[in-house]
Amino acid sequence: MVEPDEVVSMARMVLARTGDLAGQQVVVTAGGTREAIDPVRFVSNYSSGKMGFAIAEVARDRGAAVTLITTVNRPPLFGIEKIHVNSAQQMLEAVLTATREADVLVMAAAVADFRPEAIAEQKIKKQVDTEGLTLEMVRNPDILAEVAKQKSAGYGPRVTVGFAAETEDLMTNATNKLTRKKLDLIAANDVTATDAGFAVDTNRVTLIAAAGSVEELPLMSKVEVAEAIFDKVSQLNLKR
Ligand code: PMT
Repeated sequence: MVEPDEVVSMARMVLARTGDLAGQQVVVTAGGTREAIDPVRFVSNYSSGKMGFAIAEVARDRGAAVTLITTVNRPPLFGIEKIHVNSAQQMLEAVLTATREADVLVMAAAVADFRPEAIAEQKIKKQVDTEGLTLEMVRNPDILAEVAKQKSAGYGPRVTVGFAAETEDLMTNATNKLTRKKLDLIAANDVTATDAGFAVDTNRVTLIAAAGSVEELPLMSKVEVAEAIFDKVSQLNLKR
């Protein structure tokens, strides 16, 4: 017997055939990357993947063919191709491959900017005579910057959307990221509020477009935020 959730998803997909993203390929990332320290430990962050999963579902329900690249161990969403990755390096490779022919990329994942320089082959043991452990960290690639390079070489997504998770100077930092990462749209996300950002079902973002518009949205469910993002994406030129 098919699960009720699956029946609803199937119905949504059928209704989505005439949606504004019909015929579009959308790639979404979700969750925090996991940067290995040894075979049993990693460095990560509080991202649950809820924002990215909501974006993937909304894109599907508006008619897109969706690829979701994620670190999160949640069951696959009906009608959505799910690619599981752990580290930023793995996410980079999956994103570059998936976006070669894509129309839209939405990077909702919280990608670690740094990773341990070396991964210990065996579980690191505590030494009886040492008080602490120092991890040398090195820079991870910036996935959006690599996508921008791919775009200037003539392939890659036509519309690129990023998020800016900020704890201070929200608008300045988000606008700088919009420009530096050559995005079409960025969702400025104040992650200090308890009802927005990491691991909750609601979010509060300001959408800043490279074309100049700024739209401050109220507190919404993550599904509603995803709808607002694709309303903006649809206003950008989606035709090749
Ligand atoms: O997953 P949830 O629990 O639902 O939480 C949602 C969220 C808070 C994680 C999400 O709304 C969000 O803000 N995601 C972006 C988090 C982040 O990494 O922000 P950033 O400001 O560090 O990065 C800016 C942009 O560059 C992001 O789109 C990020 O995906 C991208 N990035 C970052 C680092 C890196 N090495 N490569 C990247 O492409």
